[in-house]
Parts: sequence; C-alpha cells; structure tokens
Amino acid sequence: MALRNIRLEGDDILRKRAKDIDAVTDRIKTLAADMLDTMYHSDGVGLAAPQIGILKRIIVIDIGQGPLVFINPEIIETDGEQVGPEACLSMPRVSGEVKRPLKVKTKALNVEGEEFTIEGEGLLARAICHEIDHLNGVLFTDIATNIVRE
Ligand code: NI
Repeated sequence: MALRNIRLEGDDILRKRAKDIDAVTDRIKTLAADMLDTMYHSDGVGLAAPQIGILKRIIVIDIGQGPLVFINPEIIETDGEQVGPEACLSMPRVSGEVKRPLKVKTKALNVEGEEFTIEGEGLLARAICHEIDHLNGVLFTDIATNIVRE
C-alpha cells in the first residue's frame, strides 16, 4: 500500500470521464488499497481514482462505518433530497452547499469482482453522488451554492 498524489482543481484530468474497469485484477486491488490509504491520510470520507490521476471508474468511501470500494458504480435508484455542506480533497479550503438525493441505491463490483448493491442514506448517499460525479469530470462546485473559498 502506498500514498498517491492528490490532483488539485485546475488539473485537466479532473474534467475527464473515467473508463470502465474490464477486470478486477491485482493491480486494481492495489489501486483500491492505495486510494483508501490516501483518503485516510488526508482525513477524507471519499476519493475517486481521477483524483489520483487514474481515469478508471473506481471510488472509495468511509463515512466512519468502514471502508467501501465501488468498481464501475452505477446509481440505480434515488429517493428524496437533501441540501448540505460538501468539500473535496482536490479543492482544499473550498466549501459549498449541494442538493443531493436523500437516498441512493448503487450497484457496483467489489474488490473480488463480485456485484453488490448498497442503499445509502444521508452522508453516505451524498458521498456516493460526489465521488461518482468525479468519474464523470464533475466537481461539486459545478453544482453548489454558497461557495466559500477561504
Ligand atoms: Ni471530491
């Protein structure tokens, strides 16, 4: 496991669409472990591969309930809405309010290459949406209101 460099706002890679992962290889498992290390080291609750310069569809999240890895994640159902604060490891000292679904049901592969679905509510739903946006080149400031840059 190793720490990777986090790309910052202004880096073109953050604006590109990440590509599907064809096979969950040992390299992908190492990538997932490195992403978790990098996220914990920066006190983040989520990280997407483009944020470390890799255009693959993989995100990691830990909202304090243990690590989650999503490979090729797809939101298959949403319900309700919530408005709340967000920040991003690629945009230090920037915050804003973002409207997100209150609940999201997501389908993905785990690091064993097995499909799973998870229903997230509140912060987990917010984190899943924020990280999947990264896979599509979207930054939270694109859709936020009351943006504060300290
Ligand atoms: Ni982010």
